[in-house]
Amino acid sequence: MKILAIETSCDETAVSIVEIDGTATDPTISVLSNQLFSQVDIHAAFGGVVPNLAKRAHKDKLLPLLKTALKEAGLFNDKKINISDKTEQEIKKLLAREDSLATDIITFIKKIEKPNIDYIAVTHGPGLEPALWVGINFAKALGMLWDIPVIPINHMEGHIMSVLLSKDNQSYTTRKILYPALALLISGGHTELVYIEKPLSYKIIGQTRDDAVGEAFDKVARLLSLPYPGGPQISNLAKSASHSHDFKLPRPMIGDDNFDFSFSGLKTAVLYRVHEIEKLSDENRADLAEQFELAVTDVLFEKTARAAYEYNIKTLIIGGGVSANTRIRNRFQKFVDEENTDISLLLPDTHLSTDNAIMIALAAYHNIASGRTEICPQIKATGNLSLQ
Ligand code: KG4
Ligand code: ZN
Repeated sequence: MKILAIETSCDETAVSIVEIDGTATDPTISVLSNQLFSQVDIHAAFGGVVPNLAKRAHKDKLLPLLKTALKEAGLFNDKKINISDKTEQEIKKLLAREDSLATDIITFIKKIEKPNIDYIAVTHGPGLEPALWVGINFAKALGMLWDIPVIPINHMEGHIMSVLLSKDNQSYTTRKILYPALALLISGGHTELVYIEKPLSYKIIGQTRDDAVGEAFDKVARLLSLPYPGGPQISNLAKSASHSHDFKLPRPMIGDDNFDFSFSGLKTAVLYRVHEIEKLSDENRADLAEQFELAVTDVLFEKTARAAYEYNIKTLIIGGGVSANTRIRNRFQKFVDEENTDISLLLPDTHLSTDNAIMIALAAYHNIASGRTEICPQIKATGNLSLQ
């Protein structure tokens, strides 16, 4: 089957085409095209994502990305297509809020043959609602024009399923999740520990009570005068730490008898350290970046390891943008290498850690293969969509 996936939940506009053959338990997955436009440069000047600018960039980029994806996947063939006036009116109504997008799509579709695609998958939450709506309406319009079913996908389920695929040189290999599994989801908007007893059964056993871990990275980066997004910047700066100053930072909630997290106190602790020193040197900034990264890693690791033992899991998944962090990846790798050979650790390839549309296609496949085949015609953007 071929899945066209669309992701517009935050500041990446992404379109992928993924082909999956074989059986549900032993699939062969190939990525026919993976297109991504990062809006980082648009938002960097504002120090964070501006929803209306994100929406506009999604609207401008989706069609060019789709065109490139279809061409790369070998699914783009010139052909004159007729569209009835009634369908044109419906598309214009659907995309009434996206300015010229309806006309652009109609013009585009009239010139190409219907591609051989079985499903369209689109993120419907969580995320920024104005941004989500663009992707949803775009997917619905394509679904209507090509008569292809549209499957709504939870972005966080996408981050979980991002581990199914791993790229070795130029070829992708497929990986397996053995159940019960545990997923630590760490992104710009979320910090969750999700227990997955069996496919499609998600239970959030712990989450942040304030800031998400990616958000904390971004805020601390700002305190250290680093640009947005802060995660990779902090990580980079931490590499040059010289330990010339002993910055002590707390490990919030690390010993508490629950699986919840809290990162806003840690961010405030960094702020105090910044204020304590009259003029922060480059050495101080690097040391603080390292200490912050160490504190975050300790808390994430301790809580996750405890949950892994308590729930007797077979697979540990780490997903979301922050899972690109080398120190965090290494800590979990060391855990399974040295202590827990029974647990299979699945880390996403770093290019699949941050937002992308391959993971949305993988989640759609997982849903179809696990028997959730109902197609929902009323897809709505849900900013706070939960996994359970
Ligand atoms: O999953 P994602 O791309 O978007 C959301 O769904 O939120 O995650 C983005 C977050 C940002 O906060 C960014 O700073 C963080 O992931 N991030 C990192 C790294 N790369 C991205 N955090 C720490 N270390 C990294 N290497
Ligand atoms: Zn994400």
